[in-house]
Amino acid sequence: MIEGHSILLVGGAGKMGTALLRGLLESGNLDKKKLAVSARHLRSVEGLSGEGIACGTVNGELFDSLGTPVVVLCVHPDEVTETLAQLAESKRFRECPLLVSVATGIRTDQIESEVPDGIPVVRAMPNLPARIRAGVTVVCRGQHAQREHEEMAEQVFCSIGRVLRLDEKHMDAATGLAGCGPAYVFQILEGLAHGGVQVGLPREEALIMAAQTLRGAAELVLESGVHPAVLRDQVTTPGGCTVAALSVLEQLGLKNALIQAVATATQSARSLGKAEE
Ligand SMILES: NC(=O)c1ccc[n+]([C@@H]2O[C@H](COP(=O)([O-])OP(=O)(O)OC[C@H]3O[C@@H](n4cnc5c(N)ncnc54)[C@H](OP(=O)(O)O)[C@@H]3O)[C@@H](O)[C@H]2O)c1
Repeated sequence: MIEGHSILLVGGAGKMGTALLRGLLESGNLDKKKLAVSARHLRSVEGLSGEGIACGTVNGELFDSLGTPVVVLCVHPDEVTETLAQLAESKRFRECPLLVSVATGIRTDQIESEVPDGIPVVRAMPNLPARIRAGVTVVCRGQHAQREHEEMAEQVFCSIGRVLRLDEKHMDAATGLAGCGPAYVFQILEGLAHGGVQVGLPREEALIMAAQTLRGAAELVLESGVHPAVLRDQVTTPGGCTVAALSVLEQLGLKNALIQAVATATQSARSLGKAEE
């Protein structure tokens, strides 16, 4: 794990925080004694004490209780400023070895301007399949973070899936594609299953067929490294039923709709950061 460091998961009871917490615990690489989780409301975290995990609502105190932990910030973009101020109530916060933020749209320089000078900041964009350790996280580093800090963050996010490293200029696009992507895929899955039901398949089996088809096709792309267009041609017999269906998708603009969806979400992520400036 992150050799010698403890971790404070701020907002660790939320959707992304919980995914990260469970991933870290299931990876078996983190000693519970070196972990603390904070939330805005005590009721959100108190169940964790039964599992032997330190928790609370006072970020500065939790920071101190762990010595000088790595902080992973899993709060909403409009909660970042207030949360950083709470962490700064700890006199030792300036010694924080690494601050990682998953807040959508919030740039590393925005965070750096709100914490004691020199704290290394890494920005990360994970996604929801992190919950089953099948996520993808894109990370980038701020001006005070070195390669070693990025590697420390990668070790955290490796516990919930794959990790990719990109320049910060790509983070909003990573949000538009991978951060928001599971929602697009759920919509596609719903449509496929609905189509199956429309042609008479039982509901449950239709959904399993749709999901397994999507998983299999995705794994084929990842494992083979072959471009999806090439694989698509391999399953498209001239004059057959697949090409007939593909013509319908072209006509109705599925691919174009997905392209526009990613572009719109990217724009929206960018404006979230600007709103918090
Ligand atoms: N969900 C996703 O798929 C996803 C994907 C990529 C990135 N993100 C990013 O992850 C962040 C969290 O999103 P989410 O979906 O996990 O939201 P969420 O489920 O609403 O969780 C946010 C958590 O933050 C806690 N919180 C708020 N202020 C706090 C404070 N001052 N100190 C400690 N904890 C505090 C809340 O505590 P209470 O429960 O007590 O209110 C809540 O548990 C956002 O910035 C989002 O952009 C999310």
